[in-house]
Amino acid sequence: MPGLLLGDEFPNFEADTTIGRIKFHDFLGSSWGILFSHPKDFTPVCTTELARASKVSDEFKKRGVKMIALSIDSVEDHRNWSKDVMAFNNEADSPLPFPIIADDKRQLSVQLGMLDPDERDKDGMPLTARCVFVIGPDKKMKLSILYPATTGRNFDELLRVIDSLQLTAQKKVATPVDWKPGQKVMVIPSLSDAEADALFPNGVTTKEVPSGKKYLRYTQP
Ligand code: BEZ
Repeated sequence: MPGLLLGDEFPNFEADTTIGRIKFHDFLGSSWGILFSHPKDFTPVCTTELARASKVSDEFKKRGVKMIALSIDSVEDHRNWSKDVMAFNNEADSPLPFPIIADDKRQLSVQLGMLDPDERDKDGMPLTARCVFVIGPDKKMKLSILYPATTGRNFDELLRVIDSLQLTAQKKVATPVDWKPGQKVMVIPSLSDAEADALFPNGVTTKEVPSGKKYLRYTQP
C-alpha cells in the first residue's frame, strides 16, 4: 500500500468508465463519494455485491453520496457485466445506477494499493481486493476498508458507517459499537463537561465505572 491515509487528499485520477472519461474530483463535485473495487467482472461474489449496491443506490443518493465501482476489466466488459448484474436483480431493463471504472491496465489499482497478492487470474496476475474508500466533500479520505476477494462486503454496514461519518463531521460526538442512526452517541473525550453541557441541549448522561473516571458520556444528537 503506497500509503493513502485517513485525512489525505484523494487522488484526482483520470479514468475511463461506463459513463465516459472522468476526472475523479469533477465526478464528485461537492458530494461525498464511495469508491468500491472488485476483483474481476463476471465473478460470483462481485456480481452479488454490485447487485446489492444497485438495490441500495437510492439510500446512498439520499445521503448525498456518489457511488463508483472499479474492476480490472475494460469498459466493454463492464457494460456487458452490468447487464448480468441487473438481470440478477430481476431488473434487466434498468441500467446499473452508478458507473464502473475500467482499470484493465491495473494502474489505478497499483496507485491506490488495491491489489490482493493472494488472488490471481489464470495468467498469474494479481486481482483487486475488495477496497472501500469513502471521500468527503473536501476530497479527503474519511474511511477505508479492505476485504480479500473471497469475502463479500455488507452494504448495510457501508450505509451505517456513512451515517456515522456524516454525523461526526457535524457534531463533536463519536458513535459507539454497533451504533445505528437514532441511537445515543458518545461525547468525544476532548470536550470538557462544561463544553458538553453547552453543546448538547438534550443533556449528557455519564455511566459510572469502577475507575471513577467520567469518560463514558452519552447524548442524544
Ligand atoms: C468472486 O467475486 O466470486 C471472486 C473473485 C475472485 C476471487 C474469489 C471470488
